[in-house]
Amino acid sequence: MKTQKKFKGCKWQVTFLFLFSWLCHSVSGQLHYSIAEELGKDTVIANIVNDLGLDIKEVISRKFSIVSRVSEKYFSVNLENGNLYVKDRIDRERLCRTAPSCFLTFDAVAENPLNIFSVKIEIQDINDNPPVFFPEILTLEVVELTPPGTHLVLQNAEDPDIGINAVQSYRLSDNQYFRLNENINIDGSTILELVLEKHLDRETLNFHELILTASDGGNPVRTGTALIRIIVTDSNDNLPVFTQQVYKVSISESAPINSTVIIVTATDKDEGTNAQITYSISKISENFYTSIFNINPITGEITTKGNFNFEATEHYEMSVQAKDGGGLVAQSKVLIEIIDENDNAPEISIRSLSTPIPEDSAPGTLIALIEVHDQDSGENGEVDCQIIGPSPFQLLSSSSRYYKIVNTGSLDRELVPWYNITILATDRGSPQLSSIKYIKLDISDVNDNPPMFVKSTFVAYLPENNLPGASIYNIHASDPDAGDNAKIIYSISNINTEDFPVSPYFSINIETGVLYAQRSFDYEQHKEFQMKISAKDNGSPTLSSNVTLIIHIIDQNDNLPKILYPSTESGGSPIYEMVPFTSEQGSLITKVIAVDADSGHNSWLSYHFIQMSEPSPFSISQHTGEIRTSRIFQEKDNLKHKVVIMVKDNGDPSLSATVTLSIYVGDHFQKVVPKLNNQFNDGEPSSIMQNIYLVIALALISLLFIITVGLVIISKCKESKPPPEFPTLNTNLYSQFDPRMLSNYNNGTLSLPYSYNVCVALDSSESDFSFLKPNQNVPVENLIDADDSGLGNKSSKETLSAVEVSYSNRGMMK
Ligand SMILES: *[C@@H]1O[C@H](CO)[C@@H](O)[C@H](O)[C@H]1NC(C)=O
Ligand SMILES: *[C@@H]1O[C@H](CO)[C@@H](O)[C@H](O)[C@H]1NC(C)=O
Ligand SMILES: *[C@@H]1O[C@H](CO)[C@@H](O)[C@H](O)[C@H]1NC(C)=O
Repeated sequence: MKTQKKFKGCKWQVTFLFLFSWLCHSVSGQLHYSIAEELGKDTVIANIVNDLGLDIKEVISRKFSIVSRVSEKYFSVNLENGNLYVKDRIDRERLCRTAPSCFLTFDAVAENPLNIFSVKIEIQDINDNPPVFFPEILTLEVVELTPPGTHLVLQNAEDPDIGINAVQSYRLSDNQYFRLNENINIDGSTILELVLEKHLDRETLNFHELILTASDGGNPVRTGTALIRIIVTDSNDNLPVFTQQVYKVSISESAPINSTVIIVTATDKDEGTNAQITYSISKISENFYTSIFNINPITGEITTKGNFNFEATEHYEMSVQAKDGGGLVAQSKVLIEIIDENDNAPEISIRSLSTPIPEDSAPGTLIALIEVHDQDSGENGEVDCQIIGPSPFQLLSSSSRYYKIVNTGSLDRELVPWYNITILATDRGSPQLSSIKYIKLDISDVNDNPPMFVKSTFVAYLPENNLPGASIYNIHASDPDAGDNAKIIYSISNINTEDFPVSPYFSINIETGVLYAQRSFDYEQHKEFQMKISAKDNGSPTLSSNVTLIIHIIDQNDNLPKILYPSTESGGSPIYEMVPFTSEQGSLITKVIAVDADSGHNSWLSYHFIQMSEPSPFSISQHTGEIRTSRIFQEKDNLKHKVVIMVKDNGDPSLSATVTLSIYVGDHFQKVVPKLNNQFNDGEPSSIMQNIYLVIALALISLLFIITVGLVIISKCKESKPPPEFPTLNTNLYSQFDPRMLSNYNNGTLSLPYSYNVCVALDSSESDFSFLKPNQNVPVENLIDADDSGLGNKSSKETLSAVEVSYSNRGMMK
């Protein structure tokens, strides 16, 4: 039998089980009810009194009660109406957990008679619990490289309800990567698994959130959810990647060491050490490039380690690599272009050079070929070339890099023997660089200059009586050419053939130009020689020039004065003169006439008495040789006088001659005649007559000479002026002068220290006075002391002192 009652909307059943057995066994019966759990308090379960067949009126008296250690808590009986009430909350899950059936039992006891009834109340499950996951958030780490198909075990949800109210199904939120797999275990339990359906990629999505929902079968269905968090952990599945496949960069060649060239960057999608990138220069180019570039392994900064040289390498191409912590490697190329800087000066090289070049080279002659070169490129390598400074040369551009140097004008080795040609090459870079080259160009000689004498005429003075073979003069010509072209050969020849030949008299050293006298000269024979000296150089063709050399022989005092009257050669007969006794004082008695073959002062004669025993009544004019009475004769005077007359020239040493003259004093000629007659008779009467004629002739000649000389002197004195050029000339200086020292004053400035002023020295005896007649056209000339010619011997050298006479002082030599 089954009884169903509705109470407060809840369905509950009271089942009377074994009611008949109670009927059969009055002592003990069993009552069976079935209620749902979680009924409200005071909910009537059933009228237990009725159900037990007891009389409601008796229950009190029979002390009806419920006896149970557990169930007393949950149930109570109202003795007034006999209902059984729910006394406390009944939670099946707490009472019975997951047991499939759950009962609460108690005994209903009535006394008088004692009846014990067993009551069993079945507690039925209601869906009062949702499925629950524990923990509610589940975190799983999955390596991204996990292969699809991998199972991940999950925890089941729990629902304390049983049966249909327990967990019936699971559901996973939508996703591409996972699906849910439920396996039934041997014990019937469900094993919940996540199955990876697709590759995970941390780099795409490193985090998945899934919601797992568990549903029970109750009505209404209750669900519980869990959040599954799946963290995809990294695996080194990504290569590093450079930001560029090829890096291109330009850097100046003058970039200093440690300059940054470029920073290369690689990225790695992985994380952690898998993304830690180390940069390096790849092995292939390591040896070469690591000496030039440095790469920072962490930052990827490429810096310079050395200096660049554009001229050596214009660009670099190297590969760099990036390696992550997992060992994966990527490579990239770095192209580094070096930018040229103007760091090279132009270079000038001489490709050919003709030196020396002859001085007669025509303008435009190629002298040198030069090449300029600049290692830089572009404008930095364009070079301009020029010759610096004034020079007779020109640069002609031959091709882009070659220049010719030619001469623009004529060259003269004698003016400029060599040139220092300065070539400047400048490039067009900024800053400009330049370089300089010097070319030394020698000019070679061409025989374009004849030998040159300083004057057209040379005058030399040579004292007579020279030693034969002595050197007397050195003529010198100069030739500005060089080498053989300047080698001079001297020769000597006559001025013209009519003259007597000079070759027997003179010779010349063809190399040194030293002139030698071949013989001793006598001034009295030859006063002057003229010759032509030729100087010829050794060039080809030879050039020559001629000069006239005049050699004046200088007189020396080598001739005695010669007394013409009174004659000493008249057969030894005594020479006498008559003087009238009555002669006035100063009467002319006679005149001594002498000549000297020398000239100049060597022939300047003076007359003196010598051996004057007593004061003589005669006097002799020192200059004229006239013998005059010095006083009137007196009776006591001796009538016969003998005088010795010395005629002395002015040479040094002076030479002299003497003559003895007898003078008779008488009133009448006859007084002395007897004596004289003897003489006349003994001697040749014609000699007296001759003497008389001679005296007359000489007197006439002297008179004529004096007149002539007087006329000449008068005319000369009219012209003559005092020498204005030498106002300070001191005659004292000359008075001390020794003519032998003339040669010591051969510097050409001193004039001959004797000034014969003819106006003063007018004298009848000067007829033989010979002057050195200066040739006004002849310039000053130095006579040499020919010593270093290596030919004169020592002794001859001393005697051969040359005399120098300067004619520059015209006033001195009238
Ligand atoms: C370049 O850098 C290195 C490292 O910092 C340093 O030792 C070196 O002296 C630097 N060179 C120059 C020229 O600055
Ligand atoms: C040329 O001139 C330069 C500058 O004055 C000088 O340095 C060089 O030595 C000269 N060359 C010769 C060969 O004299
Ligand atoms: C020099 O004299 C020689 C011989 O008399 C003659 O041949 C030559 O032409 C002369 N030279 C000059 C430059 O006058």
